Amino acid sequence: MWKVLNLLWILPGVLANDDIHLKFPTGFTIGASSAAYQIEGGWNASDKGVSVWDSFVHEKNWLISDGSNGDIACDSYHKYKEDVDIMKNIGLKHYRFSLSWTRILPTGLPDKISQDGLQYYKDLIKELRSKGIEPFVTIYHWDHPEFMSRLGSWTNEVMVEWFVEYARVVFRELGSMVKFWTTVNEPNNYCEQSYGGKKQAPGMDLPFFGNYLCLHNLLKAHARVYQIYNEEFRAKQKGKIGIVIPCRHNFPKVENDTESARIAFEFDCGWAANPIFSKDGDYPAVMKQRIKENSQLEGLPFSRLPEFSPYWINLIRGSSDYFGLNHYTSKMVEPVPRNNGTPWYQDSGVRSFVNESWPGCPTDWLRVVPEGLGGVLRDIKEAYKNPPVYILENGVSSYPGIADYNRIEFLYGYMKSMLLAMNRDGCNVKVYTVWSLLDNFEWDRGYTERFGLVEVDFNHPNRTRTPRLATKWLSQIIAKGKLIKLQDTYLYTQPPPPQPQAAAMFMPFFPLIFSFVILRLTGFVS
Ligand code: NOJ
Repeated sequence: MWKVLNLLWILPGVLANDDIHLKFPTGFTIGASSAAYQIEGGWNASDKGVSVWDSFVHEKNWLISDGSNGDIACDSYHKYKEDVDIMKNIGLKHYRFSLSWTRILPTGLPDKISQDGLQYYKDLIKELRSKGIEPFVTIYHWDHPEFMSRLGSWTNEVMVEWFVEYARVVFRELGSMVKFWTTVNEPNNYCEQSYGGKKQAPGMDLPFFGNYLCLHNLLKAHARVYQIYNEEFRAKQKGKIGIVIPCRHNFPKVENDTESARIAFEFDCGWAANPIFSKDGDYPAVMKQRIKENSQLEGLPFSRLPEFSPYWINLIRGSSDYFGLNHYTSKMVEPVPRNNGTPWYQDSGVRSFVNESWPGCPTDWLRVVPEGLGGVLRDIKEAYKNPPVYILENGVSSYPGIADYNRIEFLYGYMKSMLLAMNRDGCNVKVYTVWSLLDNFEWDRGYTERFGLVEVDFNHPNRTRTPRLATKWLSQIIAKGKLIKLQDTYLYTQPPPPQPQAAAMFMPFFPLIFSFVILRLTGFVS
């Protein structure tokens, strides 16, 4: 009789099975993300050296939407304690931030190590740990030393060993306090934008060459850093180290055109991910083949996509303890003729575009497509044998003010899609990180886009922080360990919608009443 009763208790939960899918598994953590140049300021504090972004914005401010720069940004160099307090109040469990190369090595090389620079990061990490927030440290988020840009930045292979020297100092000095490392942020997007275009530092504007060369060297640098961590630090420091790759999901324009979706995935995500996460340890076959064919048609005796030697293939293959994923949006795709002088997509032969019915936000490239996150998680599961995935960036820009309903809606939709991919489809996601904690310097968009959970007043000398509504909603999710709907959170500035009083009073007794009725009907109780 009691066994039957117990079973009946869980029945309502089983029926409402969305509830099961919307729980965060034990050990899953939710955090927020940032990057040194975008928030720190203190661009010339103490003995800090000049980075490529410092010089880029000072010399070419007309390339930045509002002519601004990151000299002060959110002033997190001075206000990091306040930032950590805000995170603690929200209940965030991890914080992803990056190190400024020239704050630690003012010349860029280890001939001089800045004690002040190191102290800043030690203090930040200590502060985080004292508040129970796990630091996730990115070694490189695009701000390399300025003099290296005059030598070709990442198109020059000499960067590989210079990056290794920098990383070695970082592991030696900070490694005992850090358990989660990311070598390089978004190598594929970075190389595309900064070497294929001119609006982001170093602004090489060498499409079809610079972008491929840049990623080639970045993957080598990443793998060498993974190698030295393994050989010199891992046994003692016992951390995890990986790379973070932005990947979008691709919906074919014609429903069964899975081939175009696959090719688009390979040229976007696979370009950086395949060499590390696939068993062949190399660029995707379709990329190698198509770029080689196009290069030949152009009359070149070699492929514009550089080749890895067997040495590098071996070193790069498997060089990440997790798949770091940044995800914002999705694309529609369709095949197009190759090498007909068409622009950026000529190498892939697949054109991507947005579905006009997808809602937008203040950022023009960011259409809101929640199902794309689940889609890309399943793409990764299938392509790379279900690696542990750390989502290290996901977020949206909001409208002026702190009532960021569009952010709450975005995060709810994307997290729901993630949870279904995890709890229903078996994707192995371990952490979720919102971009970003604070409004910040959004590269060539300056301060015109607001990605922060927390509003920052960039006109005020104090860079006053005001948490937006999404922080309250996020706190509740974290506290409950479960995704809750927007309307359940009573965040509205207007009074909450009226509650069904009588029904609500009986709700807690529902399982009991339900069990009793069933028992009566089945004759267990008379
Ligand atoms: C990805 C980059 O890592 C970050 O620096 C940038 O601000 C966000 N995307 C939003 O565009």
